[in-house]
Amino acid sequence: MTEEIAVVPGDGIGREVTPVAVDVLDAVGDFEFVHVEAGDAVAEQRGTPLPDETRAAVEAADATLFGAVGETAADVILPLRAAVDSFVNVRPARTYPGVDALQSETDLVFLRENTEGVYAGHEAELADGVTTCTRVVTENASRRLAEYACDYAPDGFTVAHKDNVMRVTDGLFRDTVEDVAAANGVETDAALMDALAMHLVERPEKFDVVVCPNLAGDVLSDLAAGLVGGLGLLPSANVGPENGVFEPVHGTAPDIAGEGVANPAAAVLSTAMLLEFLGHDAAGERVRGAVEDVLEHGPRTTDLGGDATTAAVGDAILEGV
Ligand code: NAI
Ligand code: MG
Repeated sequence: MTEEIAVVPGDGIGREVTPVAVDVLDAVGDFEFVHVEAGDAVAEQRGTPLPDETRAAVEAADATLFGAVGETAADVILPLRAAVDSFVNVRPARTYPGVDALQSETDLVFLRENTEGVYAGHEAELADGVTTCTRVVTENASRRLAEYACDYAPDGFTVAHKDNVMRVTDGLFRDTVEDVAAANGVETDAALMDALAMHLVERPEKFDVVVCPNLAGDVLSDLAAGLVGGLGLLPSANVGPENGVFEPVHGTAPDIAGEGVANPAAAVLSTAMLLEFLGHDAAGERVRGAVEDVLEHGPRTTDLGGDATTAAVGDAILEGV
């Protein structure tokens, strides 16, 4: 049966890199694409950044390819992650031959809790100049994340937390993740997330899979992007029990949007994750291999020191798949 892929290019460079990812997907498999819109431009035209048909298409699809949206990001991404009940955001960050990196031996995967923490949406203005944000941590969400982590990293993983300060919330997070790991015979080491940030910069090769609360995963994975050569290289998967949303970690890059020079690698690597999620492991491997080849031998976009356009890099990747 032909699998259905919802395609949400969004705004800015999302509109430039997503078509490359769609072409790559089309080249390696037999998919039906459902093109829908979300983001700033749609909000201006239609008064909502997330039209009902977009949400419905993402819910119904076997998987979604997402680009990036601008100012409306929180009003689009969070509901779409919820639409597929995505409980984990998988963010690999690794170096590639041929790409200059601050730390050449970085090979990390962040497994980020994707539903709660300080991104649960409970913010309030109590009085003029006084605001609050309520952090939500549940045993259920921590358990689902931990079960996924045990499957993903049976050789063990690091648990990022700050339970010396957030004793109740991160206490529950850490205890739950460690209990699930112990029950599955998986080794863990716990790390205070502030010190972990320093250790990741100094000795990234000491770490492998890092399981994080929501905000920590967001911040630490961008930090890792800085270690490996930039946001143009980081893919991600919002994994749910039945389907998922696959997107580059980067945003709309307003500083380069419209110039046709965005690096499509992150978006294309996200399709490799999508293919593997759907069980097309060989196709995923082909796509990743083609991206690695182009990163090593060029052409390269300006963020990686080259002068090639998005289209030229996209064509080179397509030739390699
Ligand atoms: P950004 O990721 O858009 O850009 C940060 C820097 O990285 C910029 O200098 C940009 O040129 C560069 N960069 C990012 N991706 C690149 C690529 N593929 N090729 C070459 N260079 C690349 O983050 P920023 O500037 O903080 O946010 C811009 C907008 O994007 C904001 O409106 C924000 O809300 C939105 N955003 C949306 C996200 C999403 O849709 N998932 C995620 C992050 C930000
Ligand atoms: Mg982010």
